[in-house]
Amino acid sequence: MPNPFRYGELVSGEYFFDREKEKEELHQIIESAMNIFLYGPRRYGKTSLILEVLKERRKDQEISIYLDLLKAPTKRKFLELYAREIAKAVTTKFDEALNFCKRTFSRLIPRIVFKANNIPEIEFEASWTRETETAVAEEVLALPEEIAQKKGKRVVVIFDEFPEITNYDGEKFEGELRSFIQNHENVSYIFTGSKRRLLLKMISDPKRPFYKSGKIMPLGKIPQEEFEAFICQRFELSNIEIVKENIRLILEITKSHPYYTQMLCWELWEKVSAKKQILKEDIQETLNTTLSHQREYFFTLWDGFSPHQKILLLALAKESSANIFSQEFINKFGLISVSSVQKSLHRLLELEVVDKTNNIYEISDVFFNLWLKEEIV
Ligand SMILES: Nc1ncnc2c1ncn2[C@@H]1O[C@H](COP(=O)(O)OP(=O)(O)OP(=O)(O)O)[C@@H](O)[C@H]1O
Ligand SMILES: [Mg+2]
Repeated sequence: MPNPFRYGELVSGEYFFDREKEKEELHQIIESAMNIFLYGPRRYGKTSLILEVLKERRKDQEISIYLDLLKAPTKRKFLELYAREIAKAVTTKFDEALNFCKRTFSRLIPRIVFKANNIPEIEFEASWTRETETAVAEEVLALPEEIAQKKGKRVVVIFDEFPEITNYDGEKFEGELRSFIQNHENVSYIFTGSKRRLLLKMISDPKRPFYKSGKIMPLGKIPQEEFEAFICQRFELSNIEIVKENIRLILEITKSHPYYTQMLCWELWEKVSAKKQILKEDIQETLNTTLSHQREYFFTLWDGFSPHQKILLLALAKESSANIFSQEFINKFGLISVSSVQKSLHRLLELEVVDKTNNIYEISDVFFNLWLKEEIV
């Protein structure tokens, strides 16, 4: 029997649960060819949710193009990736995709490369100059709407980790992209981001090209009851007994974070699968093992922070829900002043070591938080 939990990869099918409300909202947005900005902390399930929604849609009436912008560190890479994914989305066979590229792109010359598993992939050659870049951008960015009109189908484009585009050339490319998107009436654009501050800045600053250019959807945690039911049902599948109290203990440890909960449950299943029952000690032991496996990583991480950032992290590890700018909090943990808290916090948010959810600042990695409490505090 395989482990019924999954972490560190995209989840779908039986491994994916809940998010019904979010799925419905996303379906509606796509139906009305609107744009949406979906944001949430790291590993909350943004990509899995989007791909799950796409799976549920009618393939015969719609074309979806998915781009992971972490794979596109430069504008040129972005354009190549976009061109390739469009070609793959509008065709069903590799040869057709290749021919599509040859027919469609005047400056990008496709060639076949074989990846490690011997699967063919399209890459492009181009004599890149500034002028080529502009010409390719004009060709590629206009394509989704052209395809939608030509095929009489709706097109959905997903830019996963969208704020990455700000690394290309400041705000210039943002403006360029926006000028195309705003005329696309038959395309729904879904922008996601775990760099929440960057994403929100892009859409809430009147001077930025994407200002108010779509609906905003924050992705929160999965409700506790849903998570309890999921954990119970997954263990039941392997005839493993776990009482409600222990499920709650797991969720308390992981603060119901989707990724860390799946991780702890995965480890727990590995530990108890033979004995068919989970006791409180099993949870504690599994947690200890999980923390000890990451000890070295946590030490290295810890080493990289400034003394003040360390004090703030230790304070947050103890009291994530406190008003961290209050004089009381500052005095209690020796944080010096409001401005020094702001400065350290700014950096920790930027590094995504700390997250702000429902106005509460907390350390994003729940295991790092626990490790700090156990080993440092
Ligand atoms: N709806 C869900 N059902 C079950 N597990 C989930 C769900 N959402 C997230 N997870 C857990 O969280 C992990 C991360 O999911 P995913 O990669 O989709 O998140 P993400 O927000 O896109 O992450 P990243 O910030 O790294 O891009 C999954 O491997 C899984 O363990
Ligand atoms: Mg993701």
